Amino acid sequence: MTLLLLTAVRSASADLNAAWEGTITSKGSNLADVAAALNQSGAQVIGTVALGQDPVFNVTGSAHGKRVKFRGLNSGGSTFTWAGTAVGDQLRGKAKVRGSSRMRGTLVLSKSIVEPPAQPPQTCDSSFFTGQVMGVALSRCAGCHVAGGTAANAALRVTLGDPIATQESVDNLIDKQDPDSSRLLKKPLNLLPHGGGQQLVAGSNEDQILHQWINLVATGQQCSASGDSPMMPMSASELLVRASMDVRGKRPALAELDQIEGNTGAYESLVDQYLQSDEFLDRVKDVYDDALLVRREDFTDEARDETSAIYGEALELIGYIVKNDRPLTEMGTATYTVANDLFQRDVNRMPYMMEPATGSAWQPGHYLDGRPHAGVLSTSAFYQVWDTNNTN
Ligand code: HEC
Repeated sequence: MTLLLLTAVRSASADLNAAWEGTITSKGSNLADVAAALNQSGAQVIGTVALGQDPVFNVTGSAHGKRVKFRGLNSGGSTFTWAGTAVGDQLRGKAKVRGSSRMRGTLVLSKSIVEPPAQPPQTCDSSFFTGQVMGVALSRCAGCHVAGGTAANAALRVTLGDPIATQESVDNLIDKQDPDSSRLLKKPLNLLPHGGGQQLVAGSNEDQILHQWINLVATGQQCSASGDSPMMPMSASELLVRASMDVRGKRPALAELDQIEGNTGAYESLVDQYLQSDEFLDRVKDVYDDALLVRREDFTDEARDETSAIYGEALELIGYIVKNDRPLTEMGTATYTVANDLFQRDVNRMPYMMEPATGSAWQPGHYLDGRPHAGVLSTSAFYQVWDTNNTN
């Protein structure tokens, strides 16, 4: 008899698996807007509760029939307790917050039920959606808004590898009449209490990308901009990373990133400094060697520096032209070459008559063996690496 009763009670128990929204009120006044996500397994309940802008509470609790309770902590050290009943799609009961913020009132939550749209949303294969919206803006959302994630029951579902399904899910969260009020924007900014807390910063790259997509959807243009996906300007710090990698082959220093965060106008002067650096010249030589393929590895360790000097001549000439702001056409027309003492040291390996060079710095000079100068084309290493056959 008891067993039967228990089964009856169990089967009447509410299904709490959902995203919920509501308020805590006391004596008729609203203390906080609330969003929650609950995951129920048997009598066990776990989830998150977001009150206003406060850090999110991670809660655990139980559900027996209509009676539900849960409690939890947030990162601010506050505790949240709630006990009440589940009736239909509503939870109602007494809530209490203790700690740095204190609150006591009646929490009423309703299941946020997302009606399927009257017309299926217009979706399409969009490189902007796949690359920018999914690849950049929604990438952190996928930590929770996926099957099995803490936000599995919320309307937003990021389906990795399926941009069309993700577009459909996002569509429901866009307010086409008032794009700026879209839940897709307000939730991650924590302008509406968000079970995931604040995930985006207003004005950030991610926020701007979401704005762009929302505006395209609201004006029905998300599929018409065939191929010409809107370009997103990079933030100054991202641009600096690119410039630094291109120009110097390494990332900017932290201090330089700090500098540009505080003052995006610093971009030009930082790039100017990069262009004055030795790393820039190394990079120029590396890039040209990819085309000229003149560098050689050495066979013995002792001669390595000498080998790199002998085979570096053409690249050092290019480096000299760039460093001294000479016309780039001199790569093929310069009536001089460059040399240093290491380059000339071994007359067996570099047997051609030449004006002597002193010191390790590469300096302009001339061959005295009668060859006409023609930029890199008349450098010794170039002849040797790109020789022709014996018939000419
Ligand atoms: C740490 C986990 C977490 C992350 C990360 C997260 N969310 Fe959420 N989100 C939740 C939870 C939990 C809910 C359900 C409670 C609620 O409605 O706030 C939710 C709800 C939402 C909703 C409301 C959906 C509905 O049912 O109407 C939107 C919109 C949303 N999130 C957008 C985002 C966006 C956009 C991102 C990424 C920029 C993001 N979230 C990242 C946890 C997360």
